[in-house]
Parts: sequence; structure tokens; C-alpha cells
Amino acid sequence: MSPMRTTPDDPSPHRFVVVASRLPVDRSEGPGGEADWRPSPGGLVSALEPVMRESGGVWIGWSGDAGPAPGLFRANDLDLVGIGLSAEQVRDYYEGFCNATLWPLYHDVIAPPEFHRRWWDAYVTVNRSFAQAAVDQAAPGATIWVHDYQLQLVPQMVREQRADVRIGFFNHIPFPGYEIFAQLPWRRQVVNGLLGADLLGFQRRGDAANFLRASRRAAGLVTRGSTVRVGDREVRAAAFPISIDAAALEQIARRDTVRKRADEIRLALDEPHTVLLGIDRLDYTKGIPVRLRAYGELLREDRLGPRVVLVQVASPSRERVGAYRVLRDVVEQAVSRINGEYAEVGSAPVHYLHQSYPREEMAALYLAADVMLVTSLRDGMNLVAKEYVACRYDESGALVLSEFTGAADELTGAFLVNPHDIEGLKDAIVRAATISPADARRRMRLMRRRVCEHDVAHWARSFLGTLASGSGPA
Ligand code: G6P
Repeated sequence: MSPMRTTPDDPSPHRFVVVASRLPVDRSEGPGGEADWRPSPGGLVSALEPVMRESGGVWIGWSGDAGPAPGLFRANDLDLVGIGLSAEQVRDYYEGFCNATLWPLYHDVIAPPEFHRRWWDAYVTVNRSFAQAAVDQAAPGATIWVHDYQLQLVPQMVREQRADVRIGFFNHIPFPGYEIFAQLPWRRQVVNGLLGADLLGFQRRGDAANFLRASRRAAGLVTRGSTVRVGDREVRAAAFPISIDAAALEQIARRDTVRKRADEIRLALDEPHTVLLGIDRLDYTKGIPVRLRAYGELLREDRLGPRVVLVQVASPSRERVGAYRVLRDVVEQAVSRINGEYAEVGSAPVHYLHQSYPREEMAALYLAADVMLVTSLRDGMNLVAKEYVACRYDESGALVLSEFTGAADELTGAFLVNPHDIEGLKDAIVRAATISPADARRRMRLMRRRVCEHDVAHWARSFLGTLASGSGPA
């Protein structure tokens, strides 16, 4: 699909503007070296596509590579604006401030955050180019929806230029307690940046409460209930737990080809009695080492029986950031140790896949698993847990789920665990692996009802409805 450029002096007719770190398309090279954009289907774009089409929307984001700005183009029937980042901005803004300062800070300093003034300067500059693109694209009275920790200054930067627009912001990751947030040398600027919005959405009520406290402490503002008074404006901060397109994923899981692929996977694993599954970005927030530790001990103690396999997909992520490189070594060493100790010729207890897969293969993996392991040390929501539930249309399977995920508030049929408590985690894995079919069905039915009713369309409607009405969520 090739880009259709419009001229730079086009009017700006967009009544709905999404501003997100990433574009909903991936760039590859066409045969003549031209840009070829292919859809990168994520939950966010499938939720927002209908609104984008109805209201003449545009999506502003970054392609993921260093290089000049692609500007305004059409791909996959959507109007898109690509923001350009130089190699230095990728290093200082993306790898630096976003992923080595804010990411660890907002995930309760599981890894130590680094604070560098040069990174902060790059964050301000890049936020300004996203904000300018939003200002240029927004029609009078438009709605602008800004996403995630990479763009926290955009709401205020837009408001300074455009008093006529409605601005919403959604934070996909946790918002930390004030004692941790207070470490950030630019805490006041970040709070003020966010407060440019009319409505701030968080995954959990605790995140919204943490933000309200930060508004009082870092910016000296007065809060009442879920609102902050900013001059003559009231800004609301509330929880809107994000979800997935459950029906679309279930449809994929029901396809003959996908079901057949699930059978093939079990066959390739030599028809084990129990398949445990982990699917994560290779990120230190996901608790992959604790999961491997618990699994290794269970094998040593022979508590899972002889025919058990763990399939661990760890998709490559942020590979140039130091903490991610260290984590890869730690995980790969742990996998080798377990396999070294417990493998036999022709069979290994851990199948480790440092790769990314299309949705069909993921759905087949979800179907092939008896127990899904989600052991995050901290996680805004964890959509993998919801994806597993959406795929289990026959109501079988069990979910072991960390309490420190947003999903734990909703998926009450899971075996909830504190991943720091290795003995508790081991017990939960054993209970999940030996659950009776009737108990599994009862738990899965409960979780499926929640995920199917509260899908990503519900999330988008609820956030945008609240933003439009200016009142609080139900
Ligand atoms: C998390 C964040 C997203 C981010 C994604 C992938 O889900 O909430 O904002 O886009 O990770 O990370 P990346 O650094 O590749 O964009």
C-alpha cells in the first residue's frame, strides 16, 4: 500500500485526532525504495478505527525508525501523520527519557531510573513536535486524544495554542505513588503537562488517586473528589480499564486453520499432559525470571508430573536499552539451566521463543495451553491475560495472574498470585495445572463474561463519552 501524500497547505478538517507514540502501520521498503505501509493491528487501532471513520479522524504517531517526518499520508484507509525523529532523538527521547527514565520510574523502580537533563530536553522537543502536529490537524472544536507516558506534555502544549479543542489523555501504564514519582526532577512540569487535558484516564483507581496526590504535592493544586482545579478549569482523573477486541480474537481462535495449528503445536511438543504458556514482551516488568525460578523448582520437586512443558514467548523489545540487554541474558541463562538439568534427548521442559508472531499463531498458542502464566511485577493492565480468556471459547484452561496487574481487578476467576512469593506462585501453578474441568469452566466463564462485555469498544466509548459530556464515568 503506497502513501498518498496531500499537499502541506491542505486545510485541517479533522474533528478527531489521536496522538500516540506509534503509528498503527509499519513501514517497509517498496520495490522502488518507496515507503510501503502495512497495518500493524493492535487493540487501540481496532477500537478507534470506527470513531476515526465516523468523525474524519487522523492518527499522529512515529514509525519506530530514525529519519525524516513522513508527514500526512493515507494508508489502510486512514489519515495518518508521521512524526520524524533524528537518531539523537531516538537515543535521548525514546530509549532515554521514555524507556530508561519514565518506564522504570512508573513501574515502581523495578530497574533504577536514570535522570539526565539532555534526555529531558529531548522529551520536551519531541512532545512539542507531536503537539504542533495535533494543533495543525485539528478542526475548530475537535476532540484530541493523547496516549501514554511518551507524550505527557502534549495536552498542555496543545491547550496553550488551542482553547477551542477538547483534550483527553489516557495513561496505559501505572501511575506511581508520590514517594516514587517525587524522584523525577521534572515532576511539576509533567503534572502540569497532563493537566492541559480535560479528562485524564488511568487503568486503575489507584493510579488516578496517585495522580491526584501528585497534583496536590508537586503542583500545589486543590483537588476535590476526582477533579483538580486548574485556574478556572476542572480536570477530571478517573479509571477506564482498557481491554481488547474480544469478539474479533475469538473469531480468529475459532477458525479451522487456527484450531488445527493448535493441535499441531501440541503434537510438536510431543503431546504433553500439561502445557504452561507465557507470552510477554521481553521486559523486566513481566516477571519472567521469577516464573522460571518457580517452574524450575516445581520440576526439581516433581510436583507437575513428568509430561509438562513451558512455552515461553518473549518478543524482542527495546533492545538497545541497557536493562533490556541484561534481562535477556538473565532469562536465557535461566532457560538453559532448566533445560540443561531436566531435558532428555528429543524433549525439553522449556521452549523459549525470542520472536514475535502474527495474531493467528498467538491464538493457536493460547488454544494449545492448559495454563497461562502472567507473573508481572508491575503492569498497567496486561492484555495477554484478556487475550487468553477471549480465545478459550470452550471455557477450558486456567489463568495464573499477578495481583500487580490492572487485569487482576477484573479477572476474578484467575489464580491470583504475588509473584515475589515463590512458594505461593508454585502452589498456584500446581492448583491451576490440576484444576477439575468443572472448576475451570466456572472460573473461565466468569472471566469471559467480563472480557466480552467490557471490550475495547466499550472502553473507547466510555472514555470518549465522558470526555464529550464533561462529567464523570459511571
Ligand atoms: C507498552 C506501552 C506502549 C508501547 C508498547 C511497546 O504497551 O504502554 O505505549 O508502545 O509498550 O513499546 P515500544 O517501546 O516498542 O513502543
